[in-house]
Amino acid sequence: MSTTDSRTLHRRQFVRLAAASAGLFSASGVLASCDVTDTTHTHVSPLEPSFAPGGKATVTRNALRIPATVAPTNLTLRAQAGVADLGGGRTSTAWLYNGQFPGPTLVASTGSSASLKFENALSQQSITHWHGMVVPHLVDGHPHQVVSSGNSYVYPIFTIQQRAALNWYHPHPHKLTGEQVYRGLAGAFIVRDGVEAALNLPSGAYEVPLIIRDASFDSNGNFTFKSSSSGFFGNTPLINGTLAPFLAVDRAVYRFRVLNGCNARVLTLALGNGAAFTLIGNDGGLLESAVQLQQIQIGPGERLDLLVDFRGYAQNQNVMLRCVAAGWDLLEFRGSGQGSGAGSLPTALSTISPLTAPKRTRFFSFDGMTKVNGRVYDMMRIDFNVPFGETELWQFRTNGNGPHPVHVHGASFQVQSRAGGRGQVFPWERGWKDTVLVGDGETVEVLIRFDAFKGLYLLHCHQLGHEDNGMMSNFEVV
Ligand code: C2O
Ligand code: CU
Ligand code: CU
Repeated sequence: MSTTDSRTLHRRQFVRLAAASAGLFSASGVLASCDVTDTTHTHVSPLEPSFAPGGKATVTRNALRIPATVAPTNLTLRAQAGVADLGGGRTSTAWLYNGQFPGPTLVASTGSSASLKFENALSQQSITHWHGMVVPHLVDGHPHQVVSSGNSYVYPIFTIQQRAALNWYHPHPHKLTGEQVYRGLAGAFIVRDGVEAALNLPSGAYEVPLIIRDASFDSNGNFTFKSSSSGFFGNTPLINGTLAPFLAVDRAVYRFRVLNGCNARVLTLALGNGAAFTLIGNDGGLLESAVQLQQIQIGPGERLDLLVDFRGYAQNQNVMLRCVAAGWDLLEFRGSGQGSGAGSLPTALSTISPLTAPKRTRFFSFDGMTKVNGRVYDMMRIDFNVPFGETELWQFRTNGNGPHPVHVHGASFQVQSRAGGRGQVFPWERGWKDTVLVGDGETVEVLIRFDAFKGLYLLHCHQLGHEDNGMMSNFEVV
């Protein structure tokens, strides 16, 4: 891995410090680090840690929800107000796909065709976008395709052409995306292929999607939301819609498909004991080779494919997945003592041909909280044309209010460089990406080539407060 020893030490100290100060965090209403008692059939609110006689905070943890999987063939996704079950007897009013929170996990293979319909039973307009899926314009869920309350949109049938990856789906109506995603409309869309299959990665119960997002609650326990161009930051994490979750893990290697589904929050993932993740993929699927990392930053819309090695875990040996940036415990892994301890960690993963020799360079400035290149989004304006099949260098920079998770529809890109700010391309930004964090003071360069479809696509900030207030641009592949 690429960081220096001194940084690693610093991180370890930080993880320890964060764990030690969990009592302070709990006082401010953030989930505390826990000495687990039990998990089920209790009426203790997981939001309000109780205190054991020793004075240490305890949290009642809930079994992690695993969303149901479904094929995207003749599939209708209906968005409708409902009630989300957050675990431990806690519920919230929410807006849900097919009544589920998060929505069902779509799973399909490269080469198969997808036939999807969106039904809007919300009280406002919406359309569903397939983030990371490279699809024809009329499938993409562009704000032009919104349908009003009570109406539906039938997507043209399309063939899945891209490599294996964790993608996701969420609403994309102009100005309303942030609230609709926040209230619960999001789900995973997993694409599989032969390259991935040949690796024999952990599967079935050993492959677990982790959709991480934050939320805040009113005194009745329902989601609260305030639309703001500076973005919405919730004070409590939810993993797959579950408050304070745990996952029982066998003595095995697990594969976690991680999505940052927050409106605005950048997460910094680490294991509470300082153990390394094995990073195998990101937005656009598998990396070329696996990387060991103790800490990984993931912005809104970004994904990670992580292996975690529990082969040596005894029964009741636990470890916490944490966000060290927020000081949050996200998910507790609890050793079950089951399983053989067999399995292995791969090293070589996939082949990625580098994009080279860009024909031209384009500059994009993410300005204030509402503009790209000095202009607020206008649905009817096409800001630039991109020739089909030609490699281009796109340079992203900002005059402040970062980090901006810059996202492009219609193609994946390869990150070339980051100057200023954090000053490096991180291991989790190699390979194929569709979203990249641009921090204050940073200039990030990517190579991109639109070689699948012509048509109208979007470039925008995935900090949804920024997006909804205009930090978005239409372009046409011609
Ligand atoms: Cu995840 Cu244009 O969006
Ligand atoms: Cu997208
Ligand atoms: Cu932004």
